[in-house]
Amino acid sequence: SWDSLALTPPMGWNSWNFFEGKVSEKVIMDMADAMVSNGMKAAGYQYLVIDDYWVGGRDRENKLFPDTQRFPHGMKYLADYVHSKGLKIGIYSDAATLTCGGVTGSYNFEDLDAKTFASWGIDYLKYDYCNAPEDVNTAFCRYYKMGEALKHSGRPIVYAICEWGQRKPWLWAKAAGGHLWRTTWDSRDIWESKNKDLTGIMDIFNQQEGLANYAGPGGWNDPDLLMVGLYGKGSSSSVNGRFKGCNFTEYRTHFALWCMLDAPLMLNLDLTKMEADNLRLLTNKYLIGINQDELGKQATTILRKGDIQVLSKPLKNGGIAICVFNRSDKPATVNYQIKKDLNIWQPVNAFDVWKEKETRKAVTLESKLEGHDCAVYILSKAD
Ligand code: GLA
Repeated sequence: SWDSLALTPPMGWNSWNFFEGKVSEKVIMDMADAMVSNGMKAAGYQYLVIDDYWVGGRDRENKLFPDTQRFPHGMKYLADYVHSKGLKIGIYSDAATLTCGGVTGSYNFEDLDAKTFASWGIDYLKYDYCNAPEDVNTAFCRYYKMGEALKHSGRPIVYAICEWGQRKPWLWAKAAGGHLWRTTWDSRDIWESKNKDLTGIMDIFNQQEGLANYAGPGGWNDPDLLMVGLYGKGSSSSVNGRFKGCNFTEYRTHFALWCMLDAPLMLNLDLTKMEADNLRLLTNKYLIGINQDELGKQATTILRKGDIQVLSKPLKNGGIAICVFNRSDKPATVNYQIKKDLNIWQPVNAFDVWKEKETRKAVTLESKLEGHDCAVYILSKAD
């Protein structure tokens, strides 16, 4: 069924924040090779999504064709290559005549474009909303139109809705055929700005509050791409070098929070040049297990006291994932009575995801946190 295309949040890589307008056949092939050779594929990453700026134009039959300089062999060739590696390929378009980057979009050509994508072997479409009318009815109609076109394209294609959360897509995106829907404006490679046009990781995280009930197997809230490992080198995420990016502790918290939120895990960093600590983080099987847990319950906040926040996510096997995180840039040590403070059964067996160590029959949980740091535990009932 359509829903079964995203029973757990999609995992992969997207070209936008690092390569922006430089995305090419070579970039995608290099990323595919790297994903296989560095263990990312084995960890569950699957989609390689070509974002904006791939389009060359429409031919005499109105069929889309790619920029011939950067995609010299065409999209079918590239999709075949990606598939030969056991991976999947995604592409980008827009519900207007022009995309955000100003190249040709799909408005009025939804059926033809969906069929074209299917004929190339495309597995995922990110559908943007630049240059389209503001009102929610038009947005729904345009997204629904493409949703139907994809459903009738003859190929299963994951449908990612990208109107930046402006028209509350969590209320209607599934009805339009969407498997994921952006909930915010674009993420930048900064921790926090408190400025609504410059959304850092915390700004985006704050906007996920209250959305948990809209997500589940088949349809996910999408708090945008992962900034992990960019260190200010991404052209779009750093807004062309204006920001120097986050530090590793902040990326680690970013990744842990996105796993807790059942967010699609879409990386941006150059997979051919991954530092060992980022590779270890992004392939952490416990965090990925939390994100990909089949129950599909997005984490909610169960405690917030000053700068310390605790998130909880129920798991299919009856366990609970807990993330204790420190919004302050100062270190903090917190200690909770599991039953009294967190309202969770005790005693528990508490598996610490960073230390990969289990404490058996615990009644308290102590976390020593650096500034902007977090701790993640998988709790199970102790017998
Ligand atoms: C919008 C989207 C981004 C990216 C760019 C491409 O800003 O939200 O994720 O796709 O367009 O131009």
